[in-house]
Order: sequence, then structure tokens, then C-alpha cells
Amino acid sequence: MKGLILSGGAGTRLRPITHTSAKQLVPIANKPILFYGIEDMAAAGIREIGIIIAPATGDEIREHVGDGSQFGVSITWIVQDEPLGLAHCVLIARDFLGDDDFVMYLGDNMLEQGLTEFVEEFENARNAEPQLGVDHVAPAAQILLAKVENPTAFGVAEIGPAGEVVQLVEKPEVPPSDLALVGVYLFDPTIHEAVASIEPSLRGELEITDAIQWLVTNGHRVNHEVLVGWWIDTGKKDPLLECNRLVLDTLKRDVAGEVDDNSSIDGRVVIEAGAKIVNSTVRGPAIIGAGTVIEDSYVGPYSSIAVDCRITHSEIDNSVLLRRSSVTDIPRLTDSLVGRDTEITKGDARPRATRVMLGDHCHLEIE
Ligand code: G1P
Repeated sequence: MKGLILSGGAGTRLRPITHTSAKQLVPIANKPILFYGIEDMAAAGIREIGIIIAPATGDEIREHVGDGSQFGVSITWIVQDEPLGLAHCVLIARDFLGDDDFVMYLGDNMLEQGLTEFVEEFENARNAEPQLGVDHVAPAAQILLAKVENPTAFGVAEIGPAGEVVQLVEKPEVPPSDLALVGVYLFDPTIHEAVASIEPSLRGELEITDAIQWLVTNGHRVNHEVLVGWWIDTGKKDPLLECNRLVLDTLKRDVAGEVDDNSSIDGRVVIEAGAKIVNSTVRGPAIIGAGTVIEDSYVGPYSSIAVDCRITHSEIDNSVLLRRSSVTDIPRLTDSLVGRDTEITKGDARPRATRVMLGDHCHLEIE
């Protein structure tokens, strides 16, 4: 079994962060989203992973991931020149995948449940001995579904009375069910015929949803499982903050950095070695990266502060700060995603006013 992780795309829904960086590298609890997927694959026993990257962000992703040895896997890089769809990724990964079964994972999806059981179930179904009097048809694919409130934003599956996959539609106007396709799929080599047979959708992409529909239409068995535990497509700010909360909830307290006598660290908090907390309160769950200095401040629940940040005379909670950012004299910063090398400060200059230098596609909400 091989692994294919899709880590291309433009990340338009996370602009401006993605003007300068890949969405899959945005940190959740100070670890790039993409790393969780690679770790899940490694934990499921997958050793050969192909990662699809886009020309604009591929180098940065390669730098972070390296050769895969930090995860105990080997990585093959596959460049997708244009974002032509998820099924197009399978098409260009043909040489890497060969005739092996594989698990495909969308690099911006995060799920609570690991991949191990999902992978085992597919392998068992594929290898099951035919029993007398029972038709054994090995599945060509296995999909993972989750109940959602807004199915029009996803690929949606309709399941028949016998539990069979009847129909799959990408972002339907009138959804046949509330079961969305989670970005984790298992395939046997039949999928290569499927991706070569379908036509681009209205958004001009070769949809993996259409390729799986092709399998169903052509008489191949597609198994499904409904997800237990949470699943988040982190491609937008609010889901990303929600995901950060869910992961921080699993944190174990570990205070390795320096904390002075005037500070208090409450609950499940990670303070990495090299971070400094001065005259401040950090209330978990929260994580503070190495080299970060928190002074005369309050860092409240569900904050992930990356490395080399500075929070001075401010209060912050439910937020993700990327590296080398600073927050100074801000009475309350909440529900925020702050990019790298960003400064937020309160000035004394007259006239009293809000002064900004914002990049393209920013979002600013003033109290
Ligand atoms: C993609 C798939 C969709 C799936 C979703 C899961 O959507 O096309 O079927 O439900 O990922 O995250 P996209 O992120 O391309 O809009």
C-alpha cells in the first residue's frame, strides 16, 4: 500500500496567508497541518509516500518535509503544473503508484481518527477468501463519509438500502444526503482507468468524486465507512481555528521554557524550551513556541503561538500566531489568525485612529 498526499492548490480561501506560503504548512498547535497526514500514514504502516505539490509553494513544502526520514517514510515529489483537480493528481502520479493499492489524503484535511483501521478494513476486504454461497467482490475503492450541515460545499454520497454507494456528486445544488466525502480515499489500480475516462467538471477540474462515480457506474464495488470522531477541512480561517482547538485539547502539559516567579501557567500548556514567560498568565490549552517572549500579558485558552513571537502588555486567546509576529499593547485579541512577521500594536499618535498597512485579501475586524 502506497500513500498519495495532495499538497498543491492555491489556497485562495486562506488568503492572505497563502499569498506567501502553502496552506498545508499553516500550523495547528505549532505543527504544519501536512505533518499530521504524513504521521497518520506512517502510523498505518505506509512507507512510500508521493506528495503532489504546486510550482509556487512546492519548494517551501519540500524544505519542511525533507526526504521523509524524520517521519520514517520515503517521499517522492510530484509537481502538478496547474490545479486541474484531485483526479488529475492521480493521473500524474501514475508512475509512482504503479499497480499498487494506495491511500489518497488531501493535505489540508485533519481527522481525529487515524488511518490504521480504515486501511486495514480495505486490505481485509480485498484479501477476504471467497466463502461458499456468498458472492465475494473485492472493493475497488473505499470512501470515508461524514455527516455535515452544509453538504453543498463538498462531494456528497447517496447510500442505498443495502449500504451500497449509489451515487456521488461534487458540490451539488440539491444534495442527495448530508454525507460528505472526507478527503481520505482508498483505491486499487482500477482508479487509473477511471481518472483517464472522466471529463473536467464545470469548474474545469478532473474531480475525484466523478472518478469514483465512474467506478460505481462501471460495476465496481465501492465500500464506505461513516467517520467516527471529528473531521475538518482546514482551508478557511474559522475551521482552522476550530481544528486548532480540537488538537490543543489533546495536549499534555510540558513546561520546558523559562517562567519567572511573577507568572502563572494554568492547565495543559506547552512552553517549548527557549520560550520566556515574564510577569504573565498562560491558561491552557495553549502552546508557546521556542524563542517566543510573553511579557506583562495574558495568553488564554486555545492559543497557538509559534516560534520567535513577542506578546507584550496584551491579552490574546483562541488564536493562531505564525512565527516572528508581535502583539503589543492590545487589550484583547481573539478568534484571529496572524501571519508571519506581522506586527499588531496600539499607537499613541494623534489624531487617535486605526492605521493599517494590510496586504491583499486581508480581513480586519475592529472592535
Ligand atoms: C474536495 C473534494 C470534495 C471533498 C472535499 C473534502 O473539495 O472535491 O469532494 O468533499 O475536498 O475536503 P475542495 O477542497 O476541492 O473544494
